[in-house]
Amino acid sequence: MTQDELKQAAAAAAIDDIKPLLLADAVIGIGTGSTVNRFIDLLAGSRHLFRGAVASSQATTARLKANGIEVFELNHVGSVPVYIDGADEINHHLQMIKGGGGALTREKIIAACAERFVCIADASKRVQLLGGFPLPIEVIPMARSYVARELVKLGFNPIYRDGVVTDNGNQILDCHGLMLEDPRHTESELNNIVGVVTNGLFARRPADVLLLAGEDGVSRFTH
Ligand code: A5P
Repeated sequence: MTQDELKQAAAAAAIDDIKPLLLADAVIGIGTGSTVNRFIDLLAGSRHLFRGAVASSQATTARLKANGIEVFELNHVGSVPVYIDGADEINHHLQMIKGGGGALTREKIIAACAERFVCIADASKRVQLLGGFPLPIEVIPMARSYVARELVKLGFNPIYRDGVVTDNGNQILDCHGLMLEDPRHTESELNNIVGVVTNGLFARRPADVLLLAGEDGVSRFTH
């Protein structure tokens, strides 16, 4: 199977997985990326079952609306029963690196609000140790050089994602070549640098469910 077919299989499995949560008053959280895009297109077939969605990016907002799914401001929503999103890497504790698409901050906010985080991914995303995929850090633009110097002092190798402006008007530094033995510690350490908005480690709030598509079908993992 191609990677695209595996992404499609993970997305289809997520529709079945969350169906019991698609209730008339439910507003669900939707992430960002190519796997989630497939999920959104499939979700359109069930749009009559639930109220709408909160989106982790402008791109996802546009795709949801194009599929006839109402999009709500998170501040106007009382609870988020489930959040569905992809990952750039995910380990056996269901901790992730996310933000390859630059939407990490809004993704982390919705994940924090959600009662359940369902990660959908193809098998290439599963790793023993996080860090092979460059770890994104969203920074306030005026702090970019300062944050980069602080990262170097801590032993990181940050590279400016040139020309990219996030939906929040910020910039991104990607940290390359990591082997993260203690992702919870690293997540907090990076967030302590002044000027960092957030980083793409989802270790303190990992996924609750992983739907991982491989050659033998979709496997469901939980804690
Ligand atoms: C977006 O900022 C990312 O966190 C994505 O969720 C992640 O990169 C997965 O994307 P794909 O499904 O396109 O691999």
